Amino acid sequence: MIIDFHSHILPGIDDGSRDAAMTEKMLAASAAQGVEIMAATPHFYADANTVERFLRKRAEAVEKIRDLAAERGIGVIAGAEVAFFDGISRAADVSKLTLGGSRLLLVEMPFRQWGRREVEETERLLAHGFQVIIAHMERYTGLQSDKGPWRAVLELPVLVQLNAECFLSFSTRGKNLRLLKRGEAHLLGSDCHNVTGRPQDLAEGRAVIAKRLGEERLEEIDRLGERLIRRGGAEIL
Ligand SMILES: [Fe+2]
Repeated sequence: MIIDFHSHILPGIDDGSRDAAMTEKMLAASAAQGVEIMAATPHFYADANTVERFLRKRAEAVEKIRDLAAERGIGVIAGAEVAFFDGISRAADVSKLTLGGSRLLLVEMPFRQWGRREVEETERLLAHGFQVIIAHMERYTGLQSDKGPWRAVLELPVLVQLNAECFLSFSTRGKNLRLLKRGEAHLLGSDCHNVTGRPQDLAEGRAVIAKRLGEERLEEIDRLGERLIRRGGAEIL
């Protein structure tokens, strides 16, 4: 089962899809690429929003596209891309931001040098029973002049999500294929925001993985994704 674990398809809630018409095009592109389930993960910033307000807006956005997704045969899981903040592991409301009510939590880490705080907060989230998915791990790599904390997070029992895009550029392809090959990265997402600048590109990324690592590695990724969603009881709309 092909699952896109990271997308901004919900209309009018963040810098992703502008409106239902754009979402329709994003869903059509996703369906054409064989995507069966999309995690809809709008940005959540704790310093600019409350969980209640976010959930209300998300529910409205979901209603606008529920039928469109069903027509395309795509199951949608309502979630969030939760931006890391100090105290994230102590914020009780964070459990309302998981994927479809499961324990899967997509966390966007800071775009800066990581330190002890990032490692400890991640450890505490795991200790509280969250299945932490580190969003687009490849995007933080270049910011770590000291790779220690990045490596420490990678070595925790987290799930690491990579954007398909990183397999499309020669400069980032090799090291991210190595992460997948070593089993240090686990899930894929498009992180699609629209139909032009940041479109659905999961199929292209998957084609590179299949060619370089073999179809079996892709099948493993798909099986793990499905297992996490099914066992975790994530609600699929
Ligand atoms: Fe994103």
